[in-house]
Amino acid sequence: MKLIFLGPPGAGKGTQAAGVSAHLRVPHISTGDMFRSAIRNATPVGLEAKKYLDAGELVPDSVVIDMVRERLSMADCQDGYLLDGFPRTVDQAVALDEISAPDAVVDIQVLDERLMDRLTGRRICEKCSGTFHISKLADEHICPVCGGAVYQRDDDQPETISVRLRAYHEQTEPLIGYYSGQDQKSRPGENRLKIVNGDLKPEDVFRAILATLE
Ligand code: AP5
Ligand code: MG
Repeated sequence: MKLIFLGPPGAGKGTQAAGVSAHLRVPHISTGDMFRSAIRNATPVGLEAKKYLDAGELVPDSVVIDMVRERLSMADCQDGYLLDGFPRTVDQAVALDEISAPDAVVDIQVLDERLMDRLTGRRICEKCSGTFHISKLADEHICPVCGGAVYQRDDDQPETISVRLRAYHEQTEPLIGYYSGQDQKSRPGENRLKIVNGDLKPEDVFRAILATLE
């Protein structure tokens, strides 16, 4: 199964990808996580990407597409993948169809007014990488699962979130048309889009995703 999770910042792509990738036994590939790791390790891609992530803007297509092409050529992706946060432009989607076309695209939909609180409240465990909302933490500094320290992503500040939401609406939302077969560049007669309501409890979103893939 080659699968994509589409949806705005804070829709729950990462939260759901953890469970769904384990269930389907395919690697979870998050381009955002790949960039953050490249920035930590000060690789050439990291140095190039940092200014875009800090600003909340999209990294140029050529950089992202080369990175994903290399990742999808690895042995663990030959039987499938779950891509989270890629593609994010129609040109990235066209490139992916040439590299390794997805079978299904799940669009996790959540209204903008819910997303600001989800993102400003997000905390991540530096030890187990678990993602939590601050309202669910008994101690706002400690991971409830493993006891590790939790941190906030640099781009989870209100001003940067607004830029990310605008980038989503302008550059990524048109992919709904691309994958449902409505875009000029769509593959003729093909509808690979599945829509899931992301404004439910996480376990209900998980069930809805599996149901739509059956
Ligand atoms: P990326 O890391 O992909 O960030 P994003 O798309 O902005 O999405 P998020 O990771 O913020 O949200 P999510 O949907 O994963 O939500 P989560 O599950 O964590 O990209 C970062 C940057 O990298 C981009 O801005 C860009 O610069 C660059 N980049 C990456 N890919 C690129 C590409 N293809 N092209 C160009 N540039 C690229 O959940 C969020 C919060 O909500 C958490 O607190 C969570 O606990 C909570 N939550 C989750 N589910 C629920 C629920 N059902 N109900 C209530 N709360 C929930
Ligand atoms: Mg994410």
